[in-house]
Amino acid sequence: MALYVVTGCAGFIAANVTEKLLAEGHSVFGLDNLNDAYDVRLKHRRLERLRALPNFEFRQCDISDRAATLAALPARADAVFNLAARAGVRPSVDDPWVYYQANVTGTLNMLEACKARGISKFVLASTSSVYGNRNPMPYREDANTDYPLSPYAASKKAAEVMGHAYAHLYGMDVTVLRFFTVYGPAGRPDMSLFRFVQWVAEERPVIIYGDGTQSRDFTYVDDIARGVLASRQLEGYNIINLGSDEPLVLIEALRLVEAQVGKQATIDWKPWQETDMKASWANIAKAKELLGWTPRVSYEEGIERLIGWYMENREWAREIRTI
Ligand code: UGA
Repeated sequence: MALYVVTGCAGFIAANVTEKLLAEGHSVFGLDNLNDAYDVRLKHRRLERLRALPNFEFRQCDISDRAATLAALPARADAVFNLAARAGVRPSVDDPWVYYQANVTGTLNMLEACKARGISKFVLASTSSVYGNRNPMPYREDANTDYPLSPYAASKKAAEVMGHAYAHLYGMDVTVLRFFTVYGPAGRPDMSLFRFVQWVAEERPVIIYGDGTQSRDFTYVDDIARGVLASRQLEGYNIINLGSDEPLVLIEALRLVEAQVGKQATIDWKPWQETDMKASWANIAKAKELLGWTPRVSYEEGIERLIGWYMENREWAREIRTI
């Protein structure tokens, strides 16, 4: 059985990936700095679940700290999944430095640490945000990503190309996965669907930036985690989209939440955010071809599971800071 390093293991996607690796019988060495970018209770709960599973080891570590990262990494590992990141699009204008540190310096530190330990497989979480607003849809991986709209997207683009340099120089297998607006149970509370569920359930005003006609290729977290696991078989440098291939208009997403919660939202319309893409839609032909991956969970099912989780955890989930 293999040993994998997963950074950001208390995070939404990484916790799910870690569970799947452990379920396959592998060992996972998880790193996370447990920062307070959002309500840390979510991170602690995810971590508790992982700690209850066999073959999981945790080390608190901030990957933007070069010496600490090198010291934390085990002597050997079969692959690194670098999923630790600052990930909010809109907040990245307020503190771009912290995004740079976690996403660019953090990725560089992990690549260097892999080089030092002779770990030659590296999977990097990237984002659909790198496509900006100039590319034809559905976005192909070879589209021009030179025009990001936010410091967050720019930091991920920098991490991607740093990965290429390491693949080129040191023969590492680097796979860049561009995730498309991932949602699901215990998701990130700064993101639209989590907020909508909480706000509709608790009868709080639902903030919509712009006119609600923007669309996202929302992708269910289990589908994403399957794609992440599959990507470790690849060789060389690859960039792969993981998206649902079913763009959903934001206001329609809210309607689905309303229908399933059984309540109607009061909308608080806010100005359009210049950091945001008007639409996202993944071309997933490459994921199908190289990974044999297709998304399986429909919006109805995914949103139902998110709402189910929320209702089960409502006592504390209603208090989770979503703004
Ligand atoms: C999300 C994640 O936050 C990023 O980490 C990820 O990299 C990115 O998807 C991606 O996959 O590329 P975003 O698309 O902004 O970013 O996701 P949401 O927070 O779900 O926002 C979707 C849309 O809803 C945006 O236009 C946003 O302005 C809008 N929104 C969000 C609202 O109208 N109201 C809200 O309360 C929250």
